[in-house]
Amino acid sequence: MDLNEMSPNFKSSFFLLKRKWNRLPKFLRFYLIVVFLFVAFTFSYYVFFVASKKNLIEINASDENDLLLTDDDRIRPSQVIEHNLIPPQNPHLDDNTIKEFIVTQKIPPILLDESDNSDDKAITSEEFLQASLKQNEKQKMIQEAILHSWKGYHEYAWGQDMLKPITRKGKNWFGIGLTILDSLDTLLIAGLENEFQQALNWIKHELTFEVNENVNCFETTIRALAGLTSAYHICKEKILLEKAIDLGNRLIHCFDSPSKTVPFSDVNLKSKISKSPVYMPESSMSEVSTVQLEFRDLSYETNDKSYEEKSFATSKYIHELIQKRKNYLLPMYINPLSGNLMSSTITLGARADSYYEYLYKQYVQTKIEFLLDDYIRSIDAIKDRLVATTQGELKLLYIGEIINSDPQSIHPKMDHLVCFLSGTLALGYYHEHLRPFHKSGIANETFISHLKLAEDLARTCHYMYNLTETGLAPEIAYFGINDKQHEYYIQPRDTHNLLRPEFVESLFFLYHITGNQKYRDWGMQVFNAFEKFTRVNSGGYTTINDVRHPKNVKPKDLMESFWLAETLKYLYLLFMDDHKIVRKLLNNYVFNTEGHILPRRV
Ligand SMILES: *[C@@H]1O[C@H](CO)[C@@H](O)[C@H](O)[C@H]1NC(C)=O
Ligand SMILES: *[C@@H]1O[C@H](CO)[C@@H](O)[C@H](O)[C@H]1NC(C)=O
Ligand SMILES: *[C@@H]1O[C@H](CO)[C@@H](O)[C@H](O)[C@H]1NC(C)=O
Repeated sequence: MDLNEMSPNFKSSFFLLKRKWNRLPKFLRFYLIVVFLFVAFTFSYYVFFVASKKNLIEINASDENDLLLTDDDRIRPSQVIEHNLIPPQNPHLDDNTIKEFIVTQKIPPILLDESDNSDDKAITSEEFLQASLKQNEKQKMIQEAILHSWKGYHEYAWGQDMLKPITRKGKNWFGIGLTILDSLDTLLIAGLENEFQQALNWIKHELTFEVNENVNCFETTIRALAGLTSAYHICKEKILLEKAIDLGNRLIHCFDSPSKTVPFSDVNLKSKISKSPVYMPESSMSEVSTVQLEFRDLSYETNDKSYEEKSFATSKYIHELIQKRKNYLLPMYINPLSGNLMSSTITLGARADSYYEYLYKQYVQTKIEFLLDDYIRSIDAIKDRLVATTQGELKLLYIGEIINSDPQSIHPKMDHLVCFLSGTLALGYYHEHLRPFHKSGIANETFISHLKLAEDLARTCHYMYNLTETGLAPEIAYFGINDKQHEYYIQPRDTHNLLRPEFVESLFFLYHITGNQKYRDWGMQVFNAFEKFTRVNSGGYTTINDVRHPKNVKPKDLMESFWLAETLKYLYLLFMDDHKIVRKLLNNYVFNTEGHILPRRV
């Protein structure tokens, strides 16, 4: 405000105040400023973190009024029709479709030459190396992309967590050389021996977990711990297991929470003290339920049951909650102090996704029955309550969300992350239907219906890429409800692509399990688009901000570690022609949620 515009009265009182202020002793003025800043800070903290989260309320599992309690017909078809969605009544599941499906399904190549039992044995570095010497043209291109990514990281970001390929420097997140740990098994699988030795030398001489850093328990477990153990299972280098044990002994303190059953989200690697981040007292559902494969694997390798017991307590606890609530879909948040669920969005995307993945994958690892049972029931619940199909020509099947403010309808939003589900469903079809069927001739219709859902969802994920201007998918897609012209659209805030793996991961499973060439074609289209729009000449690939503008994709200047750990690995394995290797991978191992392979223990 211009002082000249003030009324004379106001003007004089302003100067009076100013004079009084100046006459105050210096220490008092300082003290008053500190008090003022403190009040201002507390107020903004409240506004941003407390008030904005007040819609998160604890769900008491025994409370009859629980908004999200099952009530099987809560999402009433009539209300859904009002929104003009096809009622989610298993649209793809009538008897004829299934019969037709059984008749037309072929035995995929990986099973055709399943003659002896030699594929029960563990897979070795040597086998991957031999296969890489016979690789096809597509694999050569993908191997070159792995090398190009590795070279950029090695040259500009060595020892740091991630590469910033445009500015040619590194970026730390946890400070443990994450890209190296996450890439180990990819280098072995692609037969890149020299690069693997570079990584191994760094691990021997430079790697330390004695860092005073609060790391995310889940991310560090799935990327670093599993990165080390997966490579150890392939090449048997002792140092990898030693480092994994050291890391596991730090990460296991995530479970030192008051509830015991629900771990904290973060742990300090040095002090081993775990806690929630200041801005977020809750833990994510997916994070607490997606570390069990890794800790169980560590228990088997060390003969120390405690890793498995502590982490599996979470799965058992969630299983009990589900039984009590009779609801197989879970919200995004759970409280590590009370163990209570927090009412929040029901989604197969961020913060919930891999809970469903690990229900089944833990079953593959252990054959513990309740996991399979919960998995089958949760897929049924997904079909009943979250699946919908657009009404236009494309008839895109998607998995939507249920949001708190409108629990009666399906919110037509799907994260790219949801594309993982096709791969998990296909894996279930492989183990529970296809392999037994191959021997006994008895079909399991539950899992045949799962494959149908997997294929329909993958088709939608394909369009998420195919219908953008760059051929790359956005982070989140929306689907038209009434609109037959616009079946799929992208919000301006969701146009980024982070080099994510979920779609090509599913293509790897779908191709080898069905033998359908279209899945390789789709994978090549995605790879070509990554090459064209995300490759950085000096080394590495970058995440981008805008999949809609081929002339300006707005590089974000980051190469996430899952690009090498998952996206490129799954692409390379998608084009693997050595059926014996693929069969061993599927029959004897389970891929963790970061693409690392852990042996089955059954
Ligand atoms: C949940 O509700 C039951 C019955 O109303 C009550 O006994 C119990 O103390 C509640 N638990 C929590 C954690 O609020
Ligand atoms: C299919 O598999 C499920 C889970 O193992 C089982 O409960 C069901 O009985 C099986 N159905 C058939 C027809 O074998
Ligand atoms: C979209 O799919 C069609 C048909 O498979 C293909 O010809 C085309 O190249 C794809 N476009 C992109 C950008 O991937």
